[in-house]
Amino acid sequence: MPEHLAIIMDGNGRWARARGLPRIAGHRAGTENLRRILTACTEFGIKVLTLYAFSTENWGRSPTEVRGLMNILESVIDRELDELHANGVQIRHVGRIEDLDPRLRQKVEQAVARTRGNDRLILNVALSYGGRDEIVNAVRRIVADGIPPERIDEVLIGYYMYTAGLPDPDLVVRTSGEMRISNFLIWQAAYSEFYFTPAYWPDFDEEELRKALFHYAQRERRFGLVVQPSA
Ligand code: IPE
Ligand code: IPE
Ligand code: MG
Repeated sequence: MPEHLAIIMDGNGRWARARGLPRIAGHRAGTENLRRILTACTEFGIKVLTLYAFSTENWGRSPTEVRGLMNILESVIDRELDELHANGVQIRHVGRIEDLDPRLRQKVEQAVARTRGNDRLILNVALSYGGRDEIVNAVRRIVADGIPPERIDEVLIGYYMYTAGLPDPDLVVRTSGEMRISNFLIWQAAYSEFYFTPAYWPDFDEEELRKALFHYAQRERRFGLVVQPSA
């Protein structure tokens, strides 16, 4: 089992188009999928789940789609927070919280504060997240803190990332058949395993998750070393 699973939840728009529905209906269907995936992750004993919900680049989509998405995200928090909290899920945010509109920002911050003491599953929500932005942000804060160059190493940089204190993702899953990272966890995924599936995110169910985890279990992670054949 991966300790940290990260998912690029892609394909909502195509899922909707295939049904003759507006893109926003795909985003709604995508959030309805969250509950079953979260439940499955807690059952499988995954400790950290990072979900890519909205990238820094996604701000460039039409204002209607952006507004619709933000509204949907807000209602997901309203709808799911009690149950997530009851299930011991600790919610964290990774990304540019300052970009969110004040109401959504406040909801995210309240969800984070309310669930801080939970430890069954850490749910990182990547919302207005970009990997390059995260690195720029880290460099700025390192400079602002007056850290001398010789003290800068990989551990220190990790400490300045939004994911500070968490293990790197063991497995990154991307739905919808695209095979790229799209600015997701580019620092943290240096040695992650990748799994791509053609399923659109709203169709990615527990069975699809099982398949991804099964493939992960077959992987040999070498981290640049030579693995001795056993006996
Ligand atoms: C993923 O689905 C959700 C977000 C990026 C917010 P898309 O909206 O990218 O769906 P496709 O890729 O156009 O099908
Ligand atoms: C990546 O999907 C971002 C999220 C899933 C939130 P996109 O649909 O935005 O990525 P590209 O444009 O296909 O690379
Ligand atoms: Mg997409």
